[in-house]
Formats: sequence, C-alpha cells, structure tokens
Amino acid sequence: MTATTATRPALQQTLFELTPDQAAQVREAASRITALPNEQADEFCRQALDASFDLPVELRKAVLNFSDVGSDTGIMVVRGLHVDEDLVDTPLSNSEGIGQRTEFVKEMGAIAHLLGTMVGYQAENGGRLIQDMVPNPKLAMTQQSQSSKVELEAHTEQCFSDLKPDYVILGALRGDPNAFTYCYAAHKFVEHFTEDELRQLREPRWMTQIDDSFKPYIPDPNAVRGPYPILTGPEDDPYILIDQDLMHGVTKDAQELLDKVVQTYVAHRDGHALQAGDMLMLDNPRAMHGRSQYTPRFDGKDRFIARGFVVRDRRRLWPWLLDDRRTVAAQYS
Ligand SMILES: [Fe+2]
Repeated sequence: MTATTATRPALQQTLFELTPDQAAQVREAASRITALPNEQADEFCRQALDASFDLPVELRKAVLNFSDVGSDTGIMVVRGLHVDEDLVDTPLSNSEGIGQRTEFVKEMGAIAHLLGTMVGYQAENGGRLIQDMVPNPKLAMTQQSQSSKVELEAHTEQCFSDLKPDYVILGALRGDPNAFTYCYAAHKFVEHFTEDELRQLREPRWMTQIDDSFKPYIPDPNAVRGPYPILTGPEDDPYILIDQDLMHGVTKDAQELLDKVVQTYVAHRDGHALQAGDMLMLDNPRAMHGRSQYTPRFDGKDRFIARGFVVRDRRRLWPWLLDDRRTVAAQYS
C-alpha cells in the first residue's frame, strides 16, 4: 500500500445561520417526531435519527464537518431554529421537565443525531435526555448548571469519568444577552505554551475529585481519580481534560501549570450569548468551557436552555447503561 497525504478540510465556522427556507425545512423534518425524549428516550432518538436525513444538505455538511475536524472555537452554533410560540414561562427549577415537550427540542434532536446519539446521565437531572437549565434562585451561587450569579468555572464535561459525553448540546428556548457560554479550543490554547510545558501537559500529573451531583451515587464518593494528562491526542488536533474546581496537580509545578491553563483560558476564551432559536454544540474533547455570571429576574422570562448529551458510539457504554439502554448508571460514572 502506498501512503497518500490527505489534506484536512478547513475548520468549521462557528456560526451557521439558517435561511428562512432552511429553518422551515428543519421544522418540517422535526415535526414528524412524536415520542417524548424523557418518557420514550429510545424511540425519540430513533425518530430523531430518521428526521436527520431530511435536514437541509448545507446544514448536514456543516455539522458533519464540525464532527470531523472541529471548529475554530470548539463550538458550533446553529442559529434561526423555530421556537414554540406558546412556550410557557421559564420555571424556577429543572424538576418539571418542560423543555422536552417543545417542538424546538425535536429540532435539536434531529441535528444532534448527525453527531452521534443522545444519552442521559442518571446523576444529571435523574437521567432525563433533555434537561431544563434555568436559573434556580436556591442554586444561584453554586458551581452547578442552574447557577446564575457566579461564573461557572473552566471545565470539560465530566472530567472525572470514562463515560463522559462527546458533545454537550445547549438549545436556547429563551436567551439572556448577558449570559455568555465561554469556550476555548485546545488547538488555540496550545499556542500560549512552550514546548517544554506542552510535553509536561501530556504527562499524567493531575488528580481529580468527583463532581458533587455524582457523589451520592458513587460507591466511593471521596475517591480522588488519576493521575491524568491535561493534553492528549494528535499534536495538530489536541484533546483537553480540565476542571478548575475539581482538579489539582500532583506537584507544585503541576499545580502552577494548571493555574496557567486557567489564566490562559480567562485571557483568550471565546464567548457566545445564546439567543432564542440558537442550538450550541460543544466539542467536549476539543474544548474547555464555562459560563459567565448573569442576573436573572425570576419573572418567567429568564434564560431557558434545553440541554442534552451526545456520544458518538453508544456501544462503548453498553455495560454501564440502565435497562432503557439510554441512561448511564451513575454508580459507574
Ligand atoms: Fe459544562
């Protein structure tokens, strides 16, 4: 066999704005989905995959390119999706599972199934496939997704778990112009480190604790896992693992390097304020993320995000899924 040098396609542009015709085509394809994501998760995903074949060809090409080579920022945002006119007021907690009943979430599901397949995590909102992310007055100051008045610190999703998702998807039923989803692609981040620092970042020198929402389920909740490297993957397309809150270095040098990673993120990150009709896809191995603080009014019109998780291959999770074959059992996370 002779080796050929393949040229990598250009990175996907972050923002994909649907034309009115394309938006109508997405809405039409998604409208055929009848299953509810939280009550009939497997059927919802099957119908969403089916609908994904009828999405506009330009959208499909863009999402598949994002899946292949990633984007400049580590996220891709599809803008201009149809949001239900009869959307109810933003709830004050995620307990009711309101987002799953919208037409908008069906559009998200169809697009998500170009990337892989959706799964739930038992420790995240009880394993619901679609979770309501809303500002909860009781959790305003926490490091949880329902916080608002503090910045959500830099992390990659579920850094402590081998069962982490490949993508986090955030769909905005309502936005807030002051709430920024921060992201920072690993390929941009490495430009700010010396060769020696990059070599160290690829060594297993960081331990991590388990996230609070998973602890009640885990047999050994206070376990410290690791050591892990912060960087892995190809040099020209690196993967990153980080959590500002949960991770620490095994030596003073390693801790200082972790601090530099966080400072670099704060100085150079990209930010995107989700507006109604936006769907953001976050490339979890290729980018770290966080969220700015913002000030909710708790008046029913606050930011309302439908969140989901996508894995590229559900088979790798098989031994750790509940009987519904869609929910990762928290005890193994
Ligand atoms: Fe996150």
